[in-house]
Amino acid sequence: MDAGTYVLKIYRGTPGKQYWEQFEFKRNYSANVISALMEIQKRPVNRKGEITTPVAWEQGCLEEVCGSCSMLINGKPRQACTALIEEYIRDTGSNVIALAPFTKFPLIRDLCVNRDSMFQALVKIRGWISVDGTEDQGEFGQPISQEVQQAMYVLSTCMTCGCCSESCPQVNHRSEFMGPAAMSQIRYFNTNPTGKLEKSERLRVATGQEGIAGCGNAQNCVRVCPKGIPLTESLSLIGREATKQALKDLIGLPDA
Ligand code: SF4
Ligand code: SF4
Ligand code: FES
Repeated sequence: MDAGTYVLKIYRGTPGKQYWEQFEFKRNYSANVISALMEIQKRPVNRKGEITTPVAWEQGCLEEVCGSCSMLINGKPRQACTALIEEYIRDTGSNVIALAPFTKFPLIRDLCVNRDSMFQALVKIRGWISVDGTEDQGEFGQPISQEVQQAMYVLSTCMTCGCCSESCPQVNHRSEFMGPAAMSQIRYFNTNPTGKLEKSERLRVATGQEGIAGCGNAQNCVRVCPKGIPLTESLSLIGREATKQALKDLIGLPDA
């Protein structure tokens, strides 16, 4: 292959009809995976010179905040919008980069998958703070220390991208485990002083079929989270709290 070019090898198609298709591009120092996909959109011609259909993918923020462009790049889950082509060529020594859709979510088409299960999990864990009047009290509202704010901030950066679930061996079609992101969000909402009002209900979700018992502690999730969320720390904390909640429920103690 000409050293001045690179190839995207894309696993595309619809459920049950997936195939690889290659596209060749001129190297450009600032190109990322999304800008390359946009070039295909403008001129959908594959490496064999055949006219083909444009590749489908999702994007939103283009700055690694929304999580919608997540896919497998050279087999690893990450966001396409911040994946620089030149970095891949430098790191792998190869001018061929493979793109594929996530495998733990239902395939829609090409690089698009349906991540609804991530959002449904947020509904199940009550991923919100109920209005209790303190939000209108300004400086007289519930104080949150700087330390707790800092701990909460990193948890709040979760963008439901699904990289953690994609890498987790325990998230599969045989398991009901809702994945590490939802468990970490239980920690986030339970840390908020107002969120604590629904702490027990969230922990009951963590003790259920889809909850923390599904985690096998493989720790893949924490290694791939693009936001550096301390997922394994959240998982062990929720594991301990869920056990306490189950004991409280067993002996009939009221919610705090
Ligand atoms: S925890 Fe990290 S990897 Fe998982 S969905 Fe949130 S941002 Fe993505
Ligand atoms: S620790 Fe392992 S098993 Fe548990 S959620 Fe993370 S990747 Fe999955
Ligand atoms: S487009 Fe939002 S994270 Fe990539």
